[in-house]
Amino acid sequence: MDKYKLIAENITVSYNNIISVKNITMKFKANTVTSLIGPSGCGKTSFLRCLNRMHDMNKNVKVMGKVVIDNTDLYLDNMNPIYHRRKVGMVFQKPNPFPTMSIYDNVTAGLRLNGIKNKKILDGSVENSLKLAYLWDEVKSDLKKPAIELSGGQQQRLCIARALAINPEILLMDEPSSALDPISTQKIEETIMNLKNELTIIIVTHNMQQAIRISDYTAFMYLGKLIEFGETKKLFTAPTDPLTAKYVKGFFG
Ligand SMILES: Nc1ncnc2c1ncn2[C@@H]1O[C@H](COP(=O)(O)OP(=O)(O)OP(=O)(O)O)[C@@H](O)[C@H]1O
Ligand SMILES: [Mg+2]
Repeated sequence: MDKYKLIAENITVSYNNIISVKNITMKFKANTVTSLIGPSGCGKTSFLRCLNRMHDMNKNVKVMGKVVIDNTDLYLDNMNPIYHRRKVGMVFQKPNPFPTMSIYDNVTAGLRLNGIKNKKILDGSVENSLKLAYLWDEVKSDLKKPAIELSGGQQQRLCIARALAINPEILLMDEPSSALDPISTQKIEETIMNLKNELTIIIVTHNMQQAIRISDYTAFMYLGKLIEFGETKKLFTAPTDPLTAKYVKGFFG
């Protein structure tokens, strides 16, 4: 039996009553990497943000549908979103470290928020998370440095470390390597592939080679709709839908 870590059911997203994501259903198996691909504006970010109720803050957005994590619907009225959100880490396209905080404080922010003060635990988490994000060697001698003084690529890896420090079970990544150089990108890809032993990962990428390299499953979206979702190899070599075929051959997008 396949075990689904996360099920998104009939997700529709509208901004000011204009629909951006149309009735998407997707099931994500535990310990897999899924890539979301599709042309700019097709709704990838809008969909991804539903998976941890990131739209809650924006009152112009309406989300319909269900997001079930470990058999609990994240959108039930009596659900405390904080409990489930803790299971879901997120990394954004633009690095967003807490600018006034040090590297150390960025990584430990989530744990401290959860009341953990033990220095040994915090130190261990900083080292472990920064190693997983391939940033440790570059910053270990100066963890007190303000995050804002890191390069863009380093800031992004810091954000990945920050997301990992709370031990999420699901990691959402929105074009995490679009601001990184090829070497950092490669490191991040290795990280992702290693992390799937412990996590379920959903990543938006415009880089089809990246999708092929790192993901077990790929979903192709177009104009707010899910056109095709299946094993990465099949989607890229023998897609079912002619629109998918056109897109993966680079005819549009
Ligand atoms: N905060 C917002 N308010 C109003 N409309 C929005 C908002 N965010 C996104 N949209 C609209 O929703 C649609 C989908 O946008 P979304 O950002 O989800 O696309 P995307 O696939 O992530 O694109 P990209 O590849 O460029 O990041 C677009 O038409 C966009 O203009
Ligand atoms: Mg986007």
